[in-house]
Amino acid sequence: MCGIVGYVGPRPSQDILLAGLARLEYRGYDSAGVAVIDDAGSLGMRKKAGKLSVLRDSLAESALPDGSTGIGHTRWATHGGPTDVNAHPHLADDDKLAVIHNGIIENFSALRAELIAEGVTFRSETDTEVAAALLGREYANNGGDLQRAFRDVVNRLEGAFTLLAMHQDQPGLVVGARRNSPLVIGLGEGENFLGSDVAAFVEHTRKALAIGQDQIVAITPDAVTVTDFAGTPVEAEPFDVSWDAAAAEKGGWSSFMAKEVAEQPEAVANTIRGRIKDGQVVIPELDGLDDLFIGINRVIITACGTASYAALVGKYAIEQWARVAVDVELAHEFRYRDPVIGEDTLVVSISQSGETMDTLMAVKYARERGARTLSVCNTQGATIPRESDAVVYTHAGPEVAVASTKAFSAQITALLLLGLHMGRVRGTVTDASADVAELLELPEKIAKVLSSEQAHVEQLAHWMSDTRSVLFLGRHVGFPIALEGALKLKEISYIHAEGFAAGELKHGPIALIEAGQPVFVLVPSPRHSALIHSKVVSNIQEIRARGARVIVVAEEGDAAVLPFADEVIHIPLAGAMFEPLLAVVPLQIFAMALATAKGLDVDQPRNLAKSVTVE
Ligand code: G6P
Repeated sequence: MCGIVGYVGPRPSQDILLAGLARLEYRGYDSAGVAVIDDAGSLGMRKKAGKLSVLRDSLAESALPDGSTGIGHTRWATHGGPTDVNAHPHLADDDKLAVIHNGIIENFSALRAELIAEGVTFRSETDTEVAAALLGREYANNGGDLQRAFRDVVNRLEGAFTLLAMHQDQPGLVVGARRNSPLVIGLGEGENFLGSDVAAFVEHTRKALAIGQDQIVAITPDAVTVTDFAGTPVEAEPFDVSWDAAAAEKGGWSSFMAKEVAEQPEAVANTIRGRIKDGQVVIPELDGLDDLFIGINRVIITACGTASYAALVGKYAIEQWARVAVDVELAHEFRYRDPVIGEDTLVVSISQSGETMDTLMAVKYARERGARTLSVCNTQGATIPRESDAVVYTHAGPEVAVASTKAFSAQITALLLLGLHMGRVRGTVTDASADVAELLELPEKIAKVLSSEQAHVEQLAHWMSDTRSVLFLGRHVGFPIALEGALKLKEISYIHAEGFAAGELKHGPIALIEAGQPVFVLVPSPRHSALIHSKVVSNIQEIRARGARVIVVAEEGDAAVLPFADEVIHIPLAGAMFEPLLAVVPLQIFAMALATAKGLDVDQPRNLAKSVTVE
């Protein structure tokens, strides 16, 4: 939510900032802006409502003097609508000082009133301008020492924030701070970068430093200093970015989403790689951490959005293999009730970005209550893994499209690995060979679904482009996939869609069925359970009898569904826990193709942001 980039070095900064913002645009695209200290020592700024392209067009039409110190911002609006004036950067000190911000400053009203009483006037409705004005005042009070003034300001702010600031009287210096919002440092040769995540600067450097909570950073072309909010120097944690800039490019694909759907075999393979040893699942990051899994009586998996559906699949897998009760809790619900947790609870959080504020708060809360914490995350240097006792990284590579696809598959894969790892440690899985074989076959099977069903599903979506509502039904591990299929459709094609447990249908949702209503049904293999399979086939007959148009996702050779289906999408044979990774693929393709048929931007759907760093 909001993307931030900062640069100091020998090069003109505008192109660097705009390229960084392009890579961060998934974090918000309500407005974009840059501020630059030009070579004559003046601070210039341009900001525009709308996507980054609007800002680019404006800069192309009338140039902003360039210089080698700059900051840039892409916004997802919280305080104040998405207008030019509310866009960042915000200026203070006679427009010599520029500030950008991600997060919410909760005490901004009180600070604003204090500043208004002192005669400050505000141009925007944002909480950020309050921080800028406060910094302007403290800059004067501190005799023009930007770093001290900045420290005074961040100590007065409450809430969640990443702030960057620069002053025209101090070219070659950008200061930043973070509390519960992301900020990472990119280390170049004679130049340095700041970014909401490494995507902001990965084309220039893959050497990075992670900054902890409540820390302040100052970058100059040749130096990086990190302190806590009291000004005491701290060590930032170095890491190398494991992917290169090309991985975050569209590379000839029509959209990032299309590319990321196609990358799923690789994302799953990369998540499994290095985690199988002697026919067993052994996750190296969990080496020496067996205590996390011994003596627990309950696992809670917490997440939001798509990640919460991966969590539901994880529940089935961990319960089956590690024989411990698992609950799945939406992070924002978990955090604000009074859950029964303690030392014997393992709280597993799942987050692609590792920055989702709701999930982060749930993790912190769990830790405060004494629970053990483990995160499943796709982003190195992110906050949630840093706040957890252990982390299992998914290796999906950068996911840019707002609607999550390959990260979802990688999350499920990581949870399957975790379930088998926990089972081995707890002594409930002694022979994992069949499941390991299933895991290793997954990439090829996902590739097969893509090659054999893509055109068919796209055709279906094309035929259904006027559809106003689509329902999705699943049982067992098919249920979370039904939820995910519906979410994908809502997110990118703005069509009413709902996912249901197939058994729940008769308890209400069946009233929605009328002639022509499209319903996707995820049919589990009869080889796993003839009983569950027959129940789903009965559910199909019930909706068919009421006029539904039934689109079935079933394993190859499942003849029992043929008489009742209007369309059949085939997936290869797989073990029960592994089917979700195959069944979700056609649903992703369907949502993408339907949104495309409606002429919508699948990568940047309205109102959404990929990384939601506000509660
Ligand atoms: C937002 C995104 C969703 C995503 C969810 C959780 O709502 O729009 O696509 O599933 O956040 O994100 P996370 O980064 O924590 O997995």
